[in-house]
Amino acid sequence: MSSQPGSGPARLCVTNAKGGTGKTTVAVNVAGALNERGHDVLFVDLDPQGNATEGLGLVEAYDAGPPTLFDALTDPDRRSVVDDLIVSHPEMDVVPSNIDMLQAEHELTIAELMARAPEVGADPDALADLAMNVTSDAVTDGHALGALDEVLAAVEGDYDYVVVDSPPFYGKLTDTGIYAARNVLVPALTEATSERAVELLIDQMAALEGQTGISVQTLGVVANRVEKTNEDRTMLQWLEEVFADFPVWQVRKRVALQRAFTDGVSLFEYEDSVDMEAVFLEIADEIDERLDAAEVPA
Ligand SMILES: Nc1ncnc2c1ncn2[C@@H]1O[C@H](COP(=O)(O)OP(=O)(O)O)[C@@H](O)[C@H]1O
Ligand SMILES: [Mg+2]
Repeated sequence: MSSQPGSGPARLCVTNAKGGTGKTTVAVNVAGALNERGHDVLFVDLDPQGNATEGLGLVEAYDAGPPTLFDALTDPDRRSVVDDLIVSHPEMDVVPSNIDMLQAEHELTIAELMARAPEVGADPDALADLAMNVTSDAVTDGHALGALDEVLAAVEGDYDYVVVDSPPFYGKLTDTGIYAARNVLVPALTEATSERAVELLIDQMAALEGQTGISVQTLGVVANRVEKTNEDRTMLQWLEEVFADFPVWQVRKRVALQRAFTDGVSLFEYEDSVDMEAVFLEIADEIDERLDAAEVPA
């Protein structure tokens, strides 16, 4: 049913290396919309800052001791600890981030160096001394970006979708999120600073495809916090030109999105009805169509 090789839930990664573009807001509300459509959703917080984890009311999980998502991602022998990390939320199951995730970028970078060591005649195992967890077993098919893919393959739950919220920087954590998902949804603010961020993301995806041989599908762009100014109009036009072949949805600036987040839920569980629910449902329907998900239960 999914666009992944093999079986399992369809996956998507909400990504843009610029902070504050609405990755977490979009990821939580798209997950909420998919749940509203009757799907079982697993939400993965890949951001070491754990905004989604905290926003979904899971602060204790963020502060919990090992093993955590850090160990599952960085220790090839402990992928399956993920099953004990999953926490339930009224709208979705969640793999929370954790304070230890602050070390993950370092570990995954060493894993990537291990993958490249043979190119220069270096010994991959010598690099293991610089790492806490990673070993050269992290390298498969000549790269080390399969960490989250392998973690998700070890999940025993039965989900229709996995939604990954990614960190606000370019690096190996984000790469492992895009590599695992193969499908990206890109939130972008309708302001001039978004141009560079979007161009860099397109370059990053091309580099990742070149390095690993996978192909990454863009599901669409979420123009976020849209207001009725000239700058917003100009940027919307720019996004529609750059992503001419993809849907560009518009999520307006709504304080309810912040309030729902503070209440630990998506708009769909939030007490008030908010007009932007319709946009997130449209996104969910497009995802359903593109990723050919399981039939919605009657
Ligand atoms: N459409 C919106 N309207 C109002 N506030 C928003 C909207 N989208 C995001 N925000 C707020 O902007 C801030 C940054 O959003 P967030 O989703 O955390 O971005 P990111 O995950 O990309 O860093 C948060 O406080 C969030 O509540
Ligand atoms: Mg975030």
